[in-house]
Amino acid sequence: MSSAWNQSVVILGTGSFAPERVMTNDDLAQLVETSDEWIRPRTGIRERRIAGENETTSDMATEAARKALENAGVAPEEIDLIVVGTCTPDMAFPNVATIVQARLGAKPGPAMDLEAACAGYPYVLDVADALMRRHGHRKALVIGADKMSSILNWNDRTTCVLFGDGAGAVVLGLEEEPGHGLIETKLGADGRDGPILCVPMMPKQAPTWPESLAFAPDTIYMNGREVFKQAVRVMGQSSQELLERNNVTSEEVKLFVPHQANTRIIEAMADRMGVSMDRFIINLDRYGNTSSASIPLALDEANRAGRLQKGDYLLMVAFGGGLTWGATLAKWF
Ligand code: ACO
Repeated sequence: MSSAWNQSVVILGTGSFAPERVMTNDDLAQLVETSDEWIRPRTGIRERRIAGENETTSDMATEAARKALENAGVAPEEIDLIVVGTCTPDMAFPNVATIVQARLGAKPGPAMDLEAACAGYPYVLDVADALMRRHGHRKALVIGADKMSSILNWNDRTTCVLFGDGAGAVVLGLEEEPGHGLIETKLGADGRDGPILCVPMMPKQAPTWPESLAFAPDTIYMNGREVFKQAVRVMGQSSQELLERNNVTSEEVKLFVPHQANTRIIEAMADRMGVSMDRFIINLDRYGNTSSASIPLALDEANRAGRLQKGDYLLMVAFGGGLTWGATLAKWF
């Protein structure tokens, strides 16, 4: 057994995938009583991508992974660990990670899914980071993928306008030189706030919170105002704590990659931290909230636009149902 705590786990490449079908706010106005004038100022969302009926989370995850491997210059056979963040797996089991592994022809190393709703990405990054250092995995695929359209109540205008489908991936590598790559992740959860944002019933299971059955129980229920307040608080707080613990100031962070739920949440967080919005990447106007996929989708866009150079600090931060949250500080490699 090897242990690599004095090495670095670095991001070698990024990739993303979004389904072809674009659904605009005007398209949604044909389904529920809503409008572009209501949605855009309150959320920042103009349109989102919606997967085809037979297009699954693992299909999107595999495509994003392929692009990340290409970007990293890493062959699928080199991958010895796959961790996927998702709350919309294709089926109860096998998990999405094993489907991706088989399709890519990766090594028969560990392959697992982890569910932390929209905070899934910091969770999977931290788990992959720890497993790589603990067991010496050399190359990992860390994927966030969600088909949110499959758990939306298309009659509920308060939620169906907010979400979209997509996937993003990074290739992580274990490097000898310490002090680079993933520096620290801080994760948290508070299960007492679970009922404010949930999909209360899995098929054929009894609901944990019977009061939420007034809504279609296998689709998203959300108390939007409460989620909004909590999101601003936990994303700001966990980012600040992480920076302080690592003696990094917010001015030193080149790019913030927040979970893409709502522009107003991101603006409120930036305001609290005293950071100008031009250092926050935003692509939710084109994708909506893609849950676990939102951070790697945005990171891939930043990477391909050349917004990160070697040595730049990068802070990724998310919150989601649970409530769960997490922030990752990294140095671009
Ligand atoms: N179109 C038109 N009207 C609407 C819509 C819509 N799509 N949705 C709600 N309304 C109406 C409501 O019915 C309400 O009408 P009423 O006053 O007649 O009752 C009115 O608009 C105001 O509704 P509020 O819910 O109070 O609107 P608010 O200003 O709070 O904005 C929003 C709602 C955008 C959802 C906001 O609360 C928010 O962004 N919350 C955070 C949500 C979020 O980020 N969720 C993702 C979490 S991540 C995860 O893990 C899944």
